[in-house]
Amino acid sequence: MSYIKSAALEETGFVILDRYEQAKDPKEWLDLEYVEWKSSGDTRFAPLTSAKGEIEVNGFWNHTPPRTDKDGVWIASQVEKAPTLARRAQEPGANVGRCRVIELKPTEYAEALYNLHQDDNNRLNPDGNGWIVRGFFNLSDDADSCLILREERYDPDTEVRIPLPAGAQIIVDTQRFWHAVWHPGPENRYCLITSWESGPQLDAYIEKWHGTSEHTSAPLDPALAADAEHEVQRRLAERAAALAERGSSGAREAARGAWGASDA
Ligand SMILES: [Fe+2]
Repeated sequence: MSYIKSAALEETGFVILDRYEQAKDPKEWLDLEYVEWKSSGDTRFAPLTSAKGEIEVNGFWNHTPPRTDKDGVWIASQVEKAPTLARRAQEPGANVGRCRVIELKPTEYAEALYNLHQDDNNRLNPDGNGWIVRGFFNLSDDADSCLILREERYDPDTEVRIPLPAGAQIIVDTQRFWHAVWHPGPENRYCLITSWESGPQLDAYIEKWHGTSEHTSAPLDPALAADAEHEVQRRLAERAAALAERGSSGAREAARGAWGASDA
């Protein structure tokens, strides 16, 4: 047995869909109710689904009973405020787990690198089921921002940078990639993030929106890149030292990485 995965994502781990005409829709994300949450960067979330239909964003596996990132319960008060976003999340017809709008404050490149993390979407997902991947629909117009993906956390040569103008639609195996968003700002960034179960429905959706893995990242200033790598190592060393002072519980925390896996 093995997980059902999308052939379109198999080689590169991501697909970029046709750009959505975001400007024709109302800015529903500004009407939603947001909650604070620890994540990669300075963020708040507005859940459209949650484990039990309440306005909270904890991983479904942290609830009782713990379960995998599927069968999200739609939150009526939020769907009422953002019917278009809810419709878009359900368009593939694939099982939806967590579905939420992220609000990200501006972040420097070095901070984004420090925030790189892998998601935990497939925790408790039984072998033989569809692999959970995540859709990113950029809502605000952040053409100078990008989704950073790395196959290897500390290897910049594995880095892919995908720009995030309004309407950008990207599907990513976020458990495979180390990922975070570099968002220079100055305004907050808003993005709809949806967990979908891979399978024939998602495959058909990717095909309908002409999903492609062909992408060439715009070049990065080598000096900025080198400075950022140095800064990340400095911050990691600083954090490791602080955790070491706290003893074995700190060491366990350090082993889990900078973040306990969340969103981008
Ligand atoms: Fe994430």
